[in-house]
Amino acid sequence: MAGDPHTSDILVIGSGAAGLTAAINLASRFKVTVLAKGALNEGSTAWAQGGIAAVLEPGDTFENHIEDTIVAGAGLNDRATVEMVVENAPAAIERLAKLGVPFNTDKGSLHLTREGGHSHRRIVHVDDATGWAVQEALLKAARDNPNITLVPDMVVIDLATSRHEERYSGAGNVWGVYAFNRATNRVELFTANATVLATGGAGRTYLFSTAPRGATGDGIAMAWRAGCRISNMEFMQFHPTCLYNLEVKNFLITEAVRGEGGRLINPQTGKRFMTYYDAERMELAPRDVVARAIDAEIKRYGLDYVHLDISHMGADFVKQHFPTIHARLIDLDIDMTTGPIPVVPAQHYTCGGVVIDRDGRTDLPNLYAAGEVSQSGLHGANRLASNSLLECFVFGEAVAKHIAAHWGDLAPPPAIRPWDESRVTDSDEEVVIKQNWTEIRRFMWNYVGIVRTTKRLERAAHRIKMLRDEVNDYYGHFRVTPDLIELRNLLESADLIVRSALHRKESRGLHYTLDYPETLDVAVDTVLVP
Ligand code: FAD
Ligand code: SIN
Repeated sequence: MAGDPHTSDILVIGSGAAGLTAAINLASRFKVTVLAKGALNEGSTAWAQGGIAAVLEPGDTFENHIEDTIVAGAGLNDRATVEMVVENAPAAIERLAKLGVPFNTDKGSLHLTREGGHSHRRIVHVDDATGWAVQEALLKAARDNPNITLVPDMVVIDLATSRHEERYSGAGNVWGVYAFNRATNRVELFTANATVLATGGAGRTYLFSTAPRGATGDGIAMAWRAGCRISNMEFMQFHPTCLYNLEVKNFLITEAVRGEGGRLINPQTGKRFMTYYDAERMELAPRDVVARAIDAEIKRYGLDYVHLDISHMGADFVKQHFPTIHARLIDLDIDMTTGPIPVVPAQHYTCGGVVIDRDGRTDLPNLYAAGEVSQSGLHGANRLASNSLLECFVFGEAVAKHIAAHWGDLAPPPAIRPWDESRVTDSDEEVVIKQNWTEIRRFMWNYVGIVRTTKRLERAAHRIKMLRDEVNDYYGHFRVTPDLIELRNLLESADLIVRSALHRKESRGLHYTLDYPETLDVAVDTVLVP
């Protein structure tokens, strides 16, 4: 292992909205180290388009936003958590504006757009590239703070726990992490009094996903291996409208396009098909409903895609509201001001994750989690659009508050054993890793997608078991690489998704199975215990 451990007061894994919010709030009192596995802006945060939900429109109320969140979440949400997040939203937006996020305004007020499942205009945004502006502002605040050390290209492998203590205390604490340094190819130890997991979701378990390359469920997998409960992993969200393009496989067409009047049309019949699936809410029904409707049309008519058309709103309106998407599509010879955009559903968001309470505490002492890696009770069986960035800000801050209030209880780390360097052989079969990556993502897409059956889930479980044996054997013998670290986590995440899906004997929200099409009267979380 390379050198002495790096020590700080608090270690944050992840430099997206959740991690940086926690770090910035902690840095007034503590020394904070933030690790990212690639560049600092490579998580989902920078890719967010639509915006951030908050009650700001006259006539809208917290109760409306709470109700919309619980309707979208199919009743599985934790009401107290929903209230906490919704009620903290306006203040979170204000803080972001103070940090310099240039939200769009209209006649002196914030401009609010609309998205599926929202009963009011509620989405604060920066054109159609909100995430980029948020990421930039948070990174600037973090860079300007002398108490924050930002460390990119450091791929965390696993949490360092009591099992890794030189003198085993048996307390079960988390003391930091082992991480692979891409620059040196060595494994380094980072220790701290408290560790915050903010590693994002597991979208890349699926062949088609809007999420960035690094969304491999690392935090979920490492928390599970360390002994945390994981909950509701069957609720993988599919965004209804990802661009259908054979070269660009993961470009999102924001829900705000439908919010601002975009219509979904079957290219074969020329009909606006949402009439048959949700005549009242049409294109603005919650995501699970719209994604299933598109999936059904595609399968019924043997289509490759459906059309999303907003050209009737006029070229000026379209270009003003969606400049980023318009420019990107023009590069691909698609003009959304004059014709439709071909779209398909794609994996988009991980509703489940590491179980946390309203202070962001996990099951393990000294370990916190926030953002997409966590299952806080906010989203239930289906996340409401634009509630995710919001969760990152509210929980990033909640974690920081709890750590500050309980600092005296968070013991400093003892001596931790260095990384075991006995696996020094470099693999001569990198092809195995590549092959397995593709295989997992393909069978997850085919067997654990929008519409499920027990038989398909069991097939996936069988494939996962075989691949896990192979990858564990590989992991045990060869020197770790970033691809191997991610493959191991991808498999762990896929396993958690499939086990959770098999456990749920009903259809609810994002989990729809032909074998149990009914929704049971009582909503219960799926909780996997290590
Ligand atoms: P991320 O922003 O994903 O950051 C994860 C961080 O963890 C990264 O820094 C990464 O490097 C680091 N990390 C991961 N694994 C490791 C490891 N092993 N070692 C070290 N570091 C690691 N939500 C909304 O509310 N509104 C929207 O408009 C919206 N639009 C979206 C559009 C797209 C295309 C996508 C993909 C998502 C969108 N979402 C939106 C969802 C939202 O962007 C994410 O849920 C949110 O940004 C997650 O933030 P996070 O801080 O939890 O994680
Ligand atoms: C979008 O812009 O459609 C994404 C919004 C979200 O994921 O919340």
